[in-house]
Amino acid sequence: MVILAGGVSASFAEAASAQDLNLICSADQAVCERLVAEFEGSHDIDVNMVRLSSGEAYAKIRAEARNPQTDLWWGGTGDPHLQAAIDGLSEEYRSPMLEKLQDWAVEQAETSEYRTVGVYSGALGWGYNTDILAEKGIEPPQCWADLLDPALAGEVQMADPNSSGTAYTALATLVQLMGEDEAFDYLKKLDANVSQYTKSGSAPVKAAGRGESGLGIVFMHDAVAQAEEGFPIEVVAPCEGTGYEIGSMSLIAGAQNEDSAKTFYDWVLGADIQSMLPEAGSFQIPSNVDAKVSEAAPKLDDVKLIDYDFAQYGGSDRRAELLSRWSREIGGVGN
Ligand code: G6P
Repeated sequence: MVILAGGVSASFAEAASAQDLNLICSADQAVCERLVAEFEGSHDIDVNMVRLSSGEAYAKIRAEARNPQTDLWWGGTGDPHLQAAIDGLSEEYRSPMLEKLQDWAVEQAETSEYRTVGVYSGALGWGYNTDILAEKGIEPPQCWADLLDPALAGEVQMADPNSSGTAYTALATLVQLMGEDEAFDYLKKLDANVSQYTKSGSAPVKAAGRGESGLGIVFMHDAVAQAEEGFPIEVVAPCEGTGYEIGSMSLIAGAQNEDSAKTFYDWVLGADIQSMLPEAGSFQIPSNVDAKVSEAAPKLDDVKLIDYDFAQYGGSDRRAELLSRWSREIGGVGN
C-alpha cells in the first residue's frame, strides 16, 4: 500500500476511483448475474444488483422516490416501466443506441417520452410437462379455454400479477381478448385449477419442469429455457391469440450514479451483449436490430398476437385498478 501526499493510501484512492451502479434486474436471476459479470469484466464500475419481479421493482422505486437508492432498472415487463414513467419516477434519456433498435423498442421509448426503452420482447403462453399430462391422460391444452378443463385441477400455476409482470401481462391479455368482466369470470374458473400463485413470473414453468406441477402460464421463451435445459416441457401459443411484453429499461429519476447508469444503458443495448444472452437462458427477441436471434427463440410470426395496448395497460390508473380487482376477486380465493 503506497501512502500518497496528504496521507491517502493508494488502495483507498483506487477503491474511490471505481464507480458504483445500483441496479434492479427483473429478468431471470441467471441472466441478471451474467449481465453483471460481463459488465464488471469490461468496466471499472461495481454493480450492486438485486433481482426483483417487475411489480416489486416498481413498488421499490416508488417507495424510494424521495431518496432514490436505485440508479437503473433493467428488464421486466414494460407495463410497470411505463407506469414508473407516467409517475415521474424515471428520467428522460435518449441513448445514442436508439437508432440501432427495432421499431417496437423505439415506440416504447416514444410512448414514455424517452423515460423507458425496449430491451427485448416475447409472447405469453404456457409450458406443460409432457410426462405428467401423458401419465394423467390429460389432453394437452392448446387454447385459453382448454385451461379450464377440470382434469387440470391442481396442475396449473401462474404468478401473482401484483408482484409479477408476466402475470400482469396475462391479466391484461385476457381483459383485451375477452372484455374485463368476462376475463374475471374466466380467472375465477381457472382458479379452481391453480395450485399456487407464485411471486416470480417464470417460477410456474420451472415447477412444471421439475415435475412439481403440470403446467405454467409464462412467457413462451421461459418455457423454451426449460426445454433447452432438458426438462420435458412443450411450449404452447394459445389458439385464441395472446399478449406479449416489451421488456424495458429505465433510468431512475434522481439516480445517485447517473453516469454509471448511462454507461450500462448504452452498453446493454449493444448487439454483442444481446447476442450473448441466450447462453444465460434468455430466449427473448433482442431489441438491437443487429443482435443474433437464437434459433430456439419462439418465432413471433407463428404466434397469433393481439394488438396489446401498452399505453392503456401500462397506464397508472388502469394497472392499479386491474390489480386491485384481481386481489379482491381472485387473490383471496383459495390462497
Ligand atoms: C422472466 C422473463 C422476462 C420477463 C420477466 C418478468 O424473467 O424471461 O422476459 O420480463 O420474467 O418477471 P416477473 O417476475 O415480473 O414476471
